[in-house]
Amino acid sequence: MNHLAAISDLKPLGVLTPWQRETVESVPVADHHVFAQTRQSVRRYAPDAVEDNVLDRLFRAAVAAPSAHNRQPWRFVVVTEASPKQRIAEAMGAKLRADRLADGDTHGDVEADVARSRSRICEAPVLVFSFVTMEDMDAYPDAKRQAAEYQMSVQSTAMATQNLLVAAHAEGLGACIMCAPLFCSDAVTQVIGAPRNWTAQSLVTLGWPGIVRPPRERLPLSAVVWQLRSE
Ligand SMILES: Cc1cc2nc3c(=O)[nH]c(=O)nc-3n(C[C@H](O)[C@H](O)[C@H](O)COP(=O)(O)O)c2cc1C
Repeated sequence: MNHLAAISDLKPLGVLTPWQRETVESVPVADHHVFAQTRQSVRRYAPDAVEDNVLDRLFRAAVAAPSAHNRQPWRFVVVTEASPKQRIAEAMGAKLRADRLADGDTHGDVEADVARSRSRICEAPVLVFSFVTMEDMDAYPDAKRQAAEYQMSVQSTAMATQNLLVAAHAEGLGACIMCAPLFCSDAVTQVIGAPRNWTAQSLVTLGWPGIVRPPRERLPLSAVVWQLRSE
């Protein structure tokens, strides 16, 4: 059965813009499911560069994500050159080292962790840092609504980042999101030279796949999805 036909039964294609209709009709719906369900984190890459036009397509997919009030609070910084990668690895490693030593971890464990972080940053052909900015978001006088507004920006940026991961997968690239920038947001913002009102969220490493590990298991749907029924 053609899945597209089933979807157009639910939502007439007439409500789509001509551009959207052309896009939807050109890609079988089943392909979108395949992309989404076969994406997995890839952490080791071939050394080959990723062409700019491929990166451009990834960011077009990223910014097609939904965002609260359509304010698009995401910002991205791409790094492909060796020397800025090294500076970033240094800055992030210094914060990781300081935090772990303050936790009382052994010198050997800490240095091994710093070295692992450094090699993941320096050996990935492409780094994509995501940031949140509140500059176009609503401002509230009370902390609770302000926190909700901030969370909306974080959710929006995570959605854009997921779009980027799925688009990378569609291109045949490997990618992995890492949360390390959350733990050293100031260091990342400073070393990258980003505006001070951008808050670092994540780092996506990208490249043509080197080592691909078996997919990670998922919890069964019965453990994570509930349907509320009338009594
Ligand atoms: C918010 C977030 C933070 C993550 N941080 C890291 C990380 O710091 N290092 C890492 O190797 N993977 C990280 N991951 C990737 C997860 O480990 C991975 O998505 C999970 O194990 C499921 O595997 P899969 O992506 O291959 O399906 C992160 C994923 C998310 C969503």
